[in-house]
Amino acid sequence: MTIMERGATAANPQVARLQVGDKELVLPIEPATEGQAAINIAPLLKDAGLVTLDYGYANTAPTRSAITYLDGDAGILRYRGYPIEQLAEDSTYLEVAYLLLNGDLPDAAAYEVWQREITLHTFIHENVRKRFLEGFHYDAHPMGMLVSAVAALSTFYLDAKDIFDTESRKKQIIRLIAKMPTLAAAAHRFSVGMPFVYPDNSLPFTSNFLSMMWKIAEPRFEADPVLARALDVLFILHADHEQNCSTTAMRVVGSSHADPYSATAAAAAALYGPRHGGANEAVIRMLTEIGSIENVEPFIASVKEGSGGRLQGFGHRVYKSYDPRAKIIKQTADEVFGVTGKNPLLDIALKLEEIALSDEYFTSRKLYPNVDFYSGLIYQAMGFPLEMFPVLFAIPRTTGWLAHWQEMLDQDSKITRPRQLYIGEAERTYRPIGER
Ligand code: CMC
Repeated sequence: MTIMERGATAANPQVARLQVGDKELVLPIEPATEGQAAINIAPLLKDAGLVTLDYGYANTAPTRSAITYLDGDAGILRYRGYPIEQLAEDSTYLEVAYLLLNGDLPDAAAYEVWQREITLHTFIHENVRKRFLEGFHYDAHPMGMLVSAVAALSTFYLDAKDIFDTESRKKQIIRLIAKMPTLAAAAHRFSVGMPFVYPDNSLPFTSNFLSMMWKIAEPRFEADPVLARALDVLFILHADHEQNCSTTAMRVVGSSHADPYSATAAAAAALYGPRHGGANEAVIRMLTEIGSIENVEPFIASVKEGSGGRLQGFGHRVYKSYDPRAKIIKQTADEVFGVTGKNPLLDIALKLEEIALSDEYFTSRKLYPNVDFYSGLIYQAMGFPLEMFPVLFAIPRTTGWLAHWQEMLDQDSKITRPRQLYIGEAERTYRPIGER
């Protein structure tokens, strides 16, 4: 493929020319505000009868998006243009949710209304709790419960199918963001045999979630302000991450015009896996298995020679430098440990990071700590069981999923339906079973 110059510079080409046999295809290059421009390959199938082969969509931009920008080489992450460091320092999860969904930060009046709307939708229908959640087996994984409960919500809100009705769409978005912590805490309470705690709508979003998680007999649960703020920061950091696996699942299911509860359940299911939202749980299991600082070096050696599996919490499809979220989380961890006492696994994690960052195997592959390397240590120090870690990721990521879902519907996008490179049998003739 060669780059054509008409009206363009080598640094800023506007089209690409692709020679296919004796045919030349001119493919438009679409500019980006920041980051990589994209070759629009739409003419390829129509004009040359070819598809593109791109395993794991590693080089595919399935859409234009104005929500999140990240530069994996430079370690930059911005929501709607705002650096993640500034949002983590000064904003709140609910303000960030408004920003992601609406494109701009709210003024004081809009923020007040938004907080009130979310607060008024924290309760779940009694039947979700009594008939549905209580029906799970006693040792059900809370993430499995969450995925199922979110899907079940679609049967409670029949208006959710009106996805092109602006008011209905907004209502489902509010419901989902508001009910996620309630469902998450309920899943935990049932899995440990504790009674369900109703939302306390006099509390802010994150403290309310902590109340539903931990309240026992006290009239009102008072969350430690340092821990409530730390969790809010973690929610900000996890709220969106452009076209990741679960967001792509949301968009794929949403592109068929399924209701947002079904699409969110699909996204949450994608988040469940250890390569994605399950990684923070895997990090703690790995650190526990390593057990002591002396075992770190042999463990690293086993990862390098292949028998030890992957170094959980390291590496990222997009970040090829230190994940900016991991830097913030490391700082937040110090604040949390100041209240809870240090997580005994921290020293193992720090040693692991130190060795990996000076080891050629990891540096040459650009494997650095990602968001999940330290988040699990915080969750564990705060008392969350390992099974709740992916659930804690799903609560804020719901905002990102919905922002992308809404953007996709506004773009009137096509149904997601990729092609394939067929490598199976060519046509053959059926023979009755006795002749085979
Ligand atoms: N430990 C050891 N080696 C690794 C790791 C790791 N964590 N990650 C990648 N590699 C190696 C891999 O073996 C391969 O080596 P080689 O070229 O010799 O075959 C090379 O690095 C490239 O790996 P890849 O599988 O092609 O990379 P990917 O971009 O497809 O995978 C990843 C990205 C996140 C799935 C992967 O790095 C991984 O499995 N990490 C551990 C799980 C994890 O921490 N996931 C959380 C991701 S961040 C939060 C989120 O997105 O939910």
